[in-house]
Amino acid sequence: MKYIVTSALPYANGRLHVGHVAGAYLPADIFVRWLRLHKEDVIYICGTDEHGTPISISADAQGVTPQEVVEHYHKDIKAAFDAINIQFDNFSGTARAPHHEMAQEFFLNLWETGHIKARDTRQFYCEHDKRFLPDRYVEGTCPRCKAEGARGDQCDVCGQIYDTVTLIEPKCKICGNTPIIRDTRHWFLQLGDFTQELQDWIAHKDYWKENVRNFMLNLLEQGLVERSITRDLSWGVPVPLPEAEGKVLYVWFDAPIGYVSSTIEWAKNKGEPELWKEYWLNPDTRMVHFIGKDNIIFHALIWPAMLMGQKESYCLPHDVPANEFMNLEGDKISTSKNWAIWVNEFLQDFPADYLRYYLAVNAPEKGDSDFSFADFQLRINSELNNVLGNLANRVFAFASKHFEGVIPAVEYDEHACSVIQEAWDLINQANDGYREYQVKKNTRIIMDVARLGNRYFDERKPWAVIKEDKDQVAVTLRVCADLLAMISVAFYPIIPQSMNKLRAMMGLAEVETWDNALQEATFAYQLQETQPLFRKVSDAEVEEQLAKLHSGSQEQSVEYEEPKPLINFDDFGKMDIRVAKILEAARVPKTDKLLHLKVDIGFETRELVAGIAQSYEPEKLIGRHVAMLINLEPRKIRGVLSQGMILAASFEDELAVTGPLSDLPPGSVIR
Ligand code: MF3
Ligand code: ZN
Repeated sequence: MKYIVTSALPYANGRLHVGHVAGAYLPADIFVRWLRLHKEDVIYICGTDEHGTPISISADAQGVTPQEVVEHYHKDIKAAFDAINIQFDNFSGTARAPHHEMAQEFFLNLWETGHIKARDTRQFYCEHDKRFLPDRYVEGTCPRCKAEGARGDQCDVCGQIYDTVTLIEPKCKICGNTPIIRDTRHWFLQLGDFTQELQDWIAHKDYWKENVRNFMLNLLEQGLVERSITRDLSWGVPVPLPEAEGKVLYVWFDAPIGYVSSTIEWAKNKGEPELWKEYWLNPDTRMVHFIGKDNIIFHALIWPAMLMGQKESYCLPHDVPANEFMNLEGDKISTSKNWAIWVNEFLQDFPADYLRYYLAVNAPEKGDSDFSFADFQLRINSELNNVLGNLANRVFAFASKHFEGVIPAVEYDEHACSVIQEAWDLINQANDGYREYQVKKNTRIIMDVARLGNRYFDERKPWAVIKEDKDQVAVTLRVCADLLAMISVAFYPIIPQSMNKLRAMMGLAEVETWDNALQEATFAYQLQETQPLFRKVSDAEVEEQLAKLHSGSQEQSVEYEEPKPLINFDDFGKMDIRVAKILEAARVPKTDKLLHLKVDIGFETRELVAGIAQSYEPEKLIGRHVAMLINLEPRKIRGVLSQGMILAASFEDELAVTGPLSDLPPGSVIR
């Protein structure tokens, strides 16, 4: 059996953060390491996704070429993967010539068999910049959910994809002008052609994760529509047709082909240029795509259709384990707001295995998870140190003190046999868990083996028994050492460096096969120089990390409102702003935001409706002196005639009424 394992190609326009690793990379690396322990024939393939409008936009903004952006981030991302020990067989990039060729071949095969059709479409065009504005080159209000900042291709708020020209109030991202609509020819993948084939294929995927399978079934039920796969851009894979001058393939068409072209590169580098075909052009290959949930449609629907439409018979995805997202200290990770933990930086402060362990224990498998430094500290200290590290330390210390560092094979008594049996059961469960990518559950199961060891050690009280029965202590140590040896294999896919370090201290060779874990060793463990397996994470370190996170995120997270045009003094003088004392306040029924207020403005009392209920409990406002615009045209809001407006400062979601103005009586003029 051959395996192709892939992780989503990261965009080469940003650094790698922990959320990326937790979702699509670490679980894949763990799976691959586990397969290799079982001596499976597996290649682990990745590379950077180097096309798409975000890359050319950021190149323009920095005054460099897209190629330069891509090269910079390719290196940076690769260094991060190296630092966290994600070991690909090949890490390529989609701007490389062999990838362009392969992507064009995929396109032409589909074109020649009629699965791609061309037609004229209407697109936004900026007359100022003299160019079309595909995808992220245009921004406006989402036609579906009405959120602002929606892009031409997709709205990040509601996740919907729509026809670009339906975007409300479109603005050119380069110059800010309103674009016009122009005709331009584009090419469309006829997904509907593959409906039957996709249905037959998905029918056998009852072992898929439920979210992925349901998503697919739902799409198939809705009926497949054609998808545009070309763009009016200069950065990308040129559309290989003479009539398509100035057009490139849509990034999501070419990107997954990167899995193939990266494998081709791998084969070439190995000096066996045809070798890639043994994996890809082989219907029995098990191809597993590790991705985040936002990539499901591309990997489980469009990509399989693209493969089905090729002349040669490619293997299809065997499984698409899509993970959810990881948040950070309760908030969404955001590159633009710099609310992220960058892998390179983090690993200057902590060993790779600490991050691997934490991301595994906290993997966003069934739902979103949260990275918090307090939790990180807790996991490292109370699990890695106090459970696993502790077991190793106490066994090593005892063996060095009383047995000169040699733990020979001994006959197991009944208690020993039952402990070993229990451990084997757990190790077997972990083995099954790895097959199903259950990284999170496995960390717990394997840690339970170490817990079992500690419990057994405590029950046997070797510190007391050593005085009268050294043989009994020898059994205790042997059992615990055997457990450590099992753990060293079972945990290897998750924390490889630490487990090899553990083995080196026990005089064992590096982890090689899974079966090693389950064999009863007949030789003696000869302890080598031992040292603590892990170190604790201090409170000071946690504080330092939190401070770094918060300070880094400040400036960039602020989005100020545009300043308004100048007004003259008369304009200003028209506003009658006074001190108002709040007499009564109550929520307006069936609303979240509105308060019904009664205020004293000195010469009279008034009623009004104010949108401040999310920031103020009504009771807290009573008696307060605030600023109020009193000559705003009265308006009926929810049945109340609102006579004026309370002034408040607002920033993002926060809001504060002005004040305290309590030194001044109601009716005082503000100017
Ligand atoms: N670059 C995409 C993302 O980060 C993933 C591309 S996966 C591929 O969302 F299959 F298209 F390569
Ligand atoms: Zn423009």
